[in-house]
Amino acid sequence: GTLAIGVDIGGTKIAAGVVDESGHIVARTRRPTPADDPSKTQESIADAVRELTSEYTVVGVGLGAAGFVDEKRSTVMFAPNLAWRDEHLRESLEDRLGMPVIVENDANAAAWAEARFGAARGETHVVILTIGTGIGGGVVLDGKLFRGRYGLAAEIGHFTIVPDGRRCGCGLHGCWEQYGSGRALVLEAQEQATVAPSMAQELLRLAGGRPAGITGHIVTEAARSGDVTALNCFDELGRWLGRGMAALAAILDPGMFVIAGGVCEAGEILRAPTEAVFRKNLTGRGHRPTAKVRIAELGNEAGLVGAADLSHLR
Ligand code: BGC
Ligand code: NA
Ligand code: ZN
Repeated sequence: GTLAIGVDIGGTKIAAGVVDESGHIVARTRRPTPADDPSKTQESIADAVRELTSEYTVVGVGLGAAGFVDEKRSTVMFAPNLAWRDEHLRESLEDRLGMPVIVENDANAAAWAEARFGAARGETHVVILTIGTGIGGGVVLDGKLFRGRYGLAAEIGHFTIVPDGRRCGCGLHGCWEQYGSGRALVLEAQEQATVAPSMAQELLRLAGGRPAGITGHIVTEAARSGDVTALNCFDELGRWLGRGMAALAAILDPGMFVIAGGVCEAGEILRAPTEAVFRKNLTGRGHRPTAKVRIAELGNEAGLVGAADLSHLR
């Protein structure tokens, strides 16, 4: 079978891997992401790809990028949480590498991987939410990735969940990702631990005593050992996610929602409250089928695997 390279461009690291046709990663490498410097980032991507192509013959490269990618799968037009603006990634990397390159939105790539090889295998209609710095979205309808007219479908992190609410990196107010992201979870935990430290003892202990030391991983650990504040934070995240998912179900009627991203390590602590709120807010409940709510199976590798697979299919 043929091989392709998938690259996941994150805020802190670039992860690249050689992927076969059944979604298995046969080799991998990584580089740090040069801070706020898109042209150095391209050089690091090219460098990681060259390392892999020195040992493997591949048909192409798929890049997953955390931003608005055009319908030609070429250009990152805009990224609410990164410095990317109108980056002609495909052109410039094809020049550097001399092989076919496609660019895909990171969450679209992850959705594709989960639908083909992960939690949503066999489902025809799937919505994936990637919970991290922002909320990424990917929609698979009738077995196909739904990309919209301009490539911008499924930018679900920026649907307004609170009119005139918190300011967002995209320039608007009240976007879903300001309430339902991993970053929102951490900010909430830090605030609660500051205001009511006696209620957050385990959380603070794990964070070395300082609210500012609380990370997403620490909130998960504290919740697992029963810390009330940490559990409340996950319940609250679940409320925001469940409500938004109910709105999406009213529009798209998927058979499954898949929750992906770092917060997935919390498993049922996040999934259960999310599903409960989703069901409660679903229009016509009791008189209609209800979409399943699952945790992603491919973990941090989904974006890389999906981007590689989409480049196979080009
Ligand atoms: C961006 C999306 C991206 C998501 C997850 C959002 O803020 O608008 O393009 O998929 O974050 O990285
Ligand atoms: Na998307
Ligand atoms: Zn926004």
